[in-house]
This record gives sequence, structure tokens and C-alpha cells, in this order.
Amino acid sequence: MKITIIGTGYVGLVTGACLAELGNDVFCLDVDQRKIDLLNNGGIPIHEPGLEEVVARNRASGRLQFSTDVAASVAHGQLQFIAVGTPPDEDGSADLQYVLAAARNIGRHMDGYKVIVDKSTVPVGTADRVAAAVREELRARGEESMEFAVVSNPEFLKEGAAVDDFMRPDRIVIGHDDSPAGQRARDLMKLLYAPFNRNHERVYWMDVRSAEFTKYAANAMLATRISFMNELANLADQVGADIEAVRHGIGSDPRIGHSFLYAGAGYGGSCFPKDVQALERTARQYDQELLILRAVEAVNDRQKQVLGRKVVRRFGDDLTGMTFAVWGLAFKPNTDDMREAPSRVLLKELIERGASVAVHDPVAMEEAQRVLALDLSEAQLARVDFKKTPMEALDGAEALVIVTEWKAFRSPDFEQIKARLKHPVIIDGRNLFEPPLMTGLGIEYHGIGRSVLTGK
Ligand code: UDX
Repeated sequence: MKITIIGTGYVGLVTGACLAELGNDVFCLDVDQRKIDLLNNGGIPIHEPGLEEVVARNRASGRLQFSTDVAASVAHGQLQFIAVGTPPDEDGSADLQYVLAAARNIGRHMDGYKVIVDKSTVPVGTADRVAAAVREELRARGEESMEFAVVSNPEFLKEGAAVDDFMRPDRIVIGHDDSPAGQRARDLMKLLYAPFNRNHERVYWMDVRSAEFTKYAANAMLATRISFMNELANLADQVGADIEAVRHGIGSDPRIGHSFLYAGAGYGGSCFPKDVQALERTARQYDQELLILRAVEAVNDRQKQVLGRKVVRRFGDDLTGMTFAVWGLAFKPNTDDMREAPSRVLLKELIERGASVAVHDPVAMEEAQRVLALDLSEAQLARVDFKKTPMEALDGAEALVIVTEWKAFRSPDFEQIKARLKHPVIIDGRNLFEPPLMTGLGIEYHGIGRSVLTGK
């Protein structure tokens, strides 16, 4: 099928590359000439496992093209995916200006029936606004009878596993209306996703508003599970219970399940914080308050401070002259994404209390330098030492703080850690190690919600 993807950010690029991989003829459009040049020269603007190969292969076969030419892009695809950003407004609601601009471009240049697919995470009701924008442009051209349909097909990709998630989806949610144009859109979407339905049907068909809502509901539910466990972990620390044992104990109930019950340093990234806020904002527009989600957000804000609190409890309020080693900067492993990363809250706190930090991340160091320059003053940034290897970060540091659970941090040489640190102290925001083993190795270990096992 002929497909146009508007917006070659994270979702757009993965969607375009993966749809080309399935044999479709894909045209990716972006307003950012530098990004398009980079992609046309074989580069990749984001770090995502497997993506580079898929892009290269399909570019070489001619099935994947990148362009800034709006008219040519709209002319290309019968299916027009809108995958542009929806950054939060000042008040937390999703900013739809890029989505609506994409819709207008489609209306301005379309020359026959098109299916407009909302891929960006957008508030309930956005499809209607997209349709209105397209219709307005068609009317301005005197082409109001030209048919089109807007469907909602939200994205559930996880960063770091996006290609795999796309190629082997748990479910595909598609919302369409029952008009003749909507029915025709359903048939085309069915054809597009047929390769995923060979073993069993993975598409959930529904009305457009429910599809839009499903995306927010999924992320809000996952964020709720995390905040719930983080809150219980803090209590476990107090009452002398082990949150990891509790996690196993409750997760084995199939009604609860094991996923997304890991206590840690708080959730970050481009989706959970933004989507929880946007859903709260939508509720407020209808004079409702989502009390659970307000608490989910508040617990997460507090949880991002948990590592800083543990450092202060161990080393005091005034950290002047001390250095701390920090492993992991990205909001989670296998990505260089620093958006809403808990490491940013930790570094700011340590530095404001007078400390210096020696940091290492396997892929996010460049991106970290960029965002930390926004978070910190120049003088503060000078106290962040970016180290090439995790071990180098330890030299002369008071303690090691682990923020991201990269695989490379899971089996370190503990003797070296002890030898390089001033004190054999690990503060672990991701519960990577077993406290009794650490005690056996002579390491003072502080996990999240596990103090019963270390007596701290
Ligand atoms: C998420 C959703 O999983 C995905 O379906 C949606 O499309 C976009 O948002 P992503 O933001 O890439 O994906 O990351 P995810 O792996 O879901 O993790 C989100 C955050 O939650 C991370 O900061 C992670 O560290 C944290 N997390 C996750 C926990 O703290 N505990 C857990 O048990 C799981």
C-alpha cells in the first residue's frame, strides 16, 4: 500500500520503517530539513535498537523515502499517518498545533479519497477537530465533496523495544466511524494490518473516541501501578518488609500479574508524565477531577527525590566537597531519552547541596550534556564529570548511586567497586542486587523498599 507518514519523530520513524519492512511503499515527511538530510544520508536521529538496519534496508530497496515536500508527500499515500509531536502546553494539556497543521496540509493538497490516521497521542475528540480542519481546507478549494475518513490508531510502542513492539504487537486499536467513508477506511486498515493477524486477530475495532481514550487509559493504568508500588516501597522501608517479596507475592495472582510492579526511582520518559497530565486536564475541562491520577503524579514527583533523600540520610544535608558516582542517566535502559528522567532530579539535588558527580551512561551521555545544560547553571554543570566507563566514575567517590537498570550494570566487579569508592556504599534506585549478597560482600547496600534485609 502507499503510505505517507507525517512527522519523522520517534513514533513516525518507527512506524514508517516497519510498514516499509512489511512491503508497503512509504513516504516520510518532516519539516526539519536537517533531520531529513540526515536520514537521506543513512543517519538515524534517535537511538533505538534495530531501527537503523530496518531503515537502511528499506531505503536501499526504495520502499522508504524521506522528504520535506508537503505536496508530494500528501499526493503519495492513500493512508496519511499523522505522527507529529503533541508536547504539553503550559497547563498540561496536549498541544495540538502540529496535528492540526498536518491535517490542514492534507486538506490543502489531497486529490482524492484519503484515510487520515491519528497515530499521535491526542485527547478524546481530536479526530473531529482533524476532520474539521481538513474539511475547512477542502471548502476553501471548492472541493468540499472530496471524501476522506479520520481513524484513530494509537501507538503503544515502548522506547528501547519499539521495532519489536511494532512487529509483534499485543494489540492494535483502531477507531473508525460508520459512515461509508469510515467503512472504507476500516477495509483499508484491515488490509494494512493483515500481516499481524495471521495467527489470531489482534485488532480491536471500536469507535474513534474510545480508541483515543484507550491510549490514555493504558498509560494511566501503567503509571498508577508504578506509583502504587513506589508508595508501598517507601512504607515497606519503614515497616521492615521487602517490596521485592511483596511484588512476587501479589504478581502471582493472575488478576494482578507481574508486569509494571517494579518500585524504583520514579517513572519518566515522553509518555507517562505527559499523558497522565493530559488526561487530568481533559477531565478538568468536563468539571471532573481525576483524584487517583493526581495522586499518581504527586507520588511520582516525590519518588524522583528518593535517591537524593537516601544520599542525604547517609551522608548529611551538606554534601560540599563530596563526589558521588552515578550510573545511568536515561529515563530507562536502551534509550538515550532524558525526558523527565529521574537522574535529572538527583543530579540537581546533589549539586545544589554542594556535591560533584561523576556520571556514566552507555548511550545517553551526549543527550544528558544537552539537557543538563538546561537544568543547571554553567558553574553547576562544571561539577558534572562525564566518564567513559562505569568504573572510572567510581574513583574517589563517596558512594555509587544507580539510577537506570542498564544490563551492563547488573554484574559489576564488586571488588573493584569497593576498591575504587571511598566507602563501600551502593544506593540502588532499581533494586538490581540482593541485599544479603551485598552484605556478604562487605557492601553497605540501600535499595528501594528493602531495608528489612539490610537493617537500614
Ligand atoms: C510507555 C508505554 O509502555 C508504551 O506502551 C507507550 O506507548 C509509551 O509509554 P515508555 O515510556 O517507552 O513506554 O517506557 P516504559 O518501558 O513503559 O517505562 C516507563 C517508565 O516507567 C520508565 O521510567 C520506567 O523506568 C518506569 N517503570 C516501568 C517503573 O518504574 N517500574 C515498572 O515496573 C515499569
